[in-house]
Amino acid sequence: MAKQGNIAKQVIGWYAKHQRPLPWRKTRDPYAIWISEVMLQQTQVETVVPYYRRFLSKFPDVGVLAKTRLQAVLKVWENLGYYSRARHIHEAAKEIMERHNGRIPDSMEELRRLPGIGPYIAAAILCFAFGRQVPTVEANVNRVLCRLFGIRTPLEHTRTRKRIYDVAVSLVPKKKASYFNQGLMDLGATICTPRKPACSQCPLVRHCQALKSGIQEELPLKRKKGPLPHKRMTAAIIMDRERRFLIVQRPPRGLLGGLWKFPGGECMAGESLEKALKRTVNEELGIRAYVKRPLASVKHAYTHFRTTLHGFHCRRVGEPENLDCYRWEWAAMPDLAGFPFSKVDRKIMEAMKAMS
Ligand code: ADE
Repeated sequence: MAKQGNIAKQVIGWYAKHQRPLPWRKTRDPYAIWISEVMLQQTQVETVVPYYRRFLSKFPDVGVLAKTRLQAVLKVWENLGYYSRARHIHEAAKEIMERHNGRIPDSMEELRRLPGIGPYIAAAILCFAFGRQVPTVEANVNRVLCRLFGIRTPLEHTRTRKRIYDVAVSLVPKKKASYFNQGLMDLGATICTPRKPACSQCPLVRHCQALKSGIQEELPLKRKKGPLPHKRMTAAIIMDRERRFLIVQRPPRGLLGGLWKFPGGECMAGESLEKALKRTVNEELGIRAYVKRPLASVKHAYTHFRTTLHGFHCRRVGEPENLDCYRWEWAAMPDLAGFPFSKVDRKIMEAMKAMS
């Protein structure tokens, strides 16, 4: 235990001097900490900061959030990605108002019952807001501990995760657990970086097993992955006589759920873009679309696939109806800004503006 205590002390001492001044570290409000942790789960710190500030100024507490329409929450989340996070936050806020009198629970069991709160976020809320002695193991901490203890099995393996978690449990001190955990995160973000770690500046340099073997840049080991599959998608830009555009809302669940898009969809294997466009627009809205000219092709990578979205200016025959879409609307160019759209659709919009 002497060594563990030493490690904790060194991390806390280093953190006192070198911590990053992040806005969610100025508070112990569990609501603010919850929002920050959800945003940080799949997203870089620098990207999160402005979103976090905007979110908290628009929805300063759980009561305000619970009363807000999902669409307004998604609008603030726009471009942050992984939109199910925003939907879960919104659902959880309503549950907190109904079942917990508007107070964020302070037990692992109750937190875990809320939508979108997994073991990591629950631990972060318990530690950073309520001062509990629990480890908070995210990507940076995984890397630091893998190197520190020279763990040579792939990070994707459950037993590797379990081993790292057990190590983290043994290290986290009773007092200043929050400083220790956030210290490990900052060490990972600024010193023990994925490439070219600055070992000479690391407070744990004497303890690091990976450094002793000269394999610090090789750890953590990753399982080899094949290339991501690629999807061809189509988007029909259809205007009415009043120069309004036809847009459709995706169903609330699933990838990009609740966000708006232009009509169209995925190409099947061997299908031409034009055929796929006609087919999918017809399936969604019951209208016929005729390609007038191509507008732009934009690329994007999601976690599990890459996509190219091909936008076409189209003419239509027929009146739209709700077939295989959640909702549809006509919206003028200036009004499109008020709807939540994904990044690729915004890129298509940029091309529309450039050509108009
Ligand atoms: N990543 C996840 N949680 C974090 C936090 N509290 N500070 C910095 N980076 C984080």
